[in-house]
Amino acid sequence: MTTPRQAWQRRAYNVEAMRLLARAVLPPPFFDFADGGAEKECTLRRNEAAFDEVELLPHPLSGASERDLSVSLFGKELSLPVMIGPAGLAGLFWPDGERCLARAAGRAGTGFCLSHGSVAPLEDVAACGTSPRWMQIFIYRDRAFTRELAERAAKSGYDALVLTIDNQLLGNRERDIRNGFAIPPRFGVSGLAGMAFKAEWLWRMRGEIRRITFGNYVRPNETADIKTLAGRMASLLDPSMSWADVDELRRVWAGPLFLKGILHPHEAKAALEHGIDGLIVSNHGGRQLDGAPATIDVLPYIVAAVGGSIPVLIDGGIRRGSDVVKALALGAKACLIGRPQLWGLTVGGEAGVVHLLDIYRREIDRVMGLCGVSRIADIGADLLFTNIQNGPRR
Ligand SMILES: Cc1cc2nc3c(=O)[nH]c(=O)nc-3n(C[C@H](O)[C@H](O)[C@H](O)COP(=O)(O)O)c2cc1C
Repeated sequence: MTTPRQAWQRRAYNVEAMRLLARAVLPPPFFDFADGGAEKECTLRRNEAAFDEVELLPHPLSGASERDLSVSLFGKELSLPVMIGPAGLAGLFWPDGERCLARAAGRAGTGFCLSHGSVAPLEDVAACGTSPRWMQIFIYRDRAFTRELAERAAKSGYDALVLTIDNQLLGNRERDIRNGFAIPPRFGVSGLAGMAFKAEWLWRMRGEIRRITFGNYVRPNETADIKTLAGRMASLLDPSMSWADVDELRRVWAGPLFLKGILHPHEAKAALEHGIDGLIVSNHGGRQLDGAPATIDVLPYIVAAVGGSIPVLIDGGIRRGSDVVKALALGAKACLIGRPQLWGLTVGGEAGVVHLLDIYRREIDRVMGLCGVSRIADIGADLLFTNIQNGPRR
């Protein structure tokens, strides 16, 4: 007899299939909250489409009977070059979502970056004990709160701090406006009608919805409701942030410090002068500045700007193992995934995310085998068709 779990596993044969399964389960406003982007969604679409324009040129006679997908980052080994990136409110998609994500990353042997906007407080997620675990924060209007979060992350054993620099104002996400998406969720008549077809999610989340909160924003001995916390978060964003704030954070945080949201080569170069340890090329999955370029298009410029002195990671539109191999061939050290983790979570909780990471693993392995490379370190510019077209390298 087939159990429900086996049924979804058979149907979740790639990332897009998982997205469609998640769409069938989630109330439309929640699906759109994760799936959507800013304004015309040009950047969102372009992130995925631009990968199609990068072509891989295989050299199968190199002999790649066995493939090793592992990669090392700041002394920690990842079993595949794909990490779980920061995504706020993961607890909307599955009860205790963030801890499911952390445990799934641990089971898959990879890293997990917790969002500032997690439902579970960072201390609770750290208690899962998985590593590497990174913590993502912003520069807040209340600089003392920035420091406080960094100090809490250090105390809880987070291995790296990720400062997101592209969220200084909230992007204009029009699907959310159309849907009346709000935190806490408000269900009008049409919303309730839509819910009638989402019994699986409703049943799973019964009792949870009332507990959804921004766990890191609750002050000790405070019982603020989520509306108050959401207001506090929005009022804490600060478009006046500058390199001076980065320097201050550098003083506070002793471990590896990443900047996430880097698109401009000048900022990549400046990051070196400010003692940054790693960059994440990102446009926030097209959720912030619509009209920003696809991350895979920008990646080579950022890699050139830092000249190999610090690792460059990338996110945005990575839906296939071949996308990962393309990013690595263009100089990325590893990739992060945003939305796909939420599809995995929605479809099967922790098991769904393990399954999702396994899809990436199997696809990367197959692409490496087809290209004729056995180690991640061997994925280089010679796999890119454009480089051959530009003439022989000397
Ligand atoms: C629902 C959702 C919530 C997100 N929350 C955060 C966040 O709290 N902090 C952050 O730095 N990025 C956040 N991101 C952006 C992701 O970290 C990542 O940059 C982006 O999703 C990558 O693109 P992809 O979804 O195409 O993989 C979020 C993305 C989504 C879809």
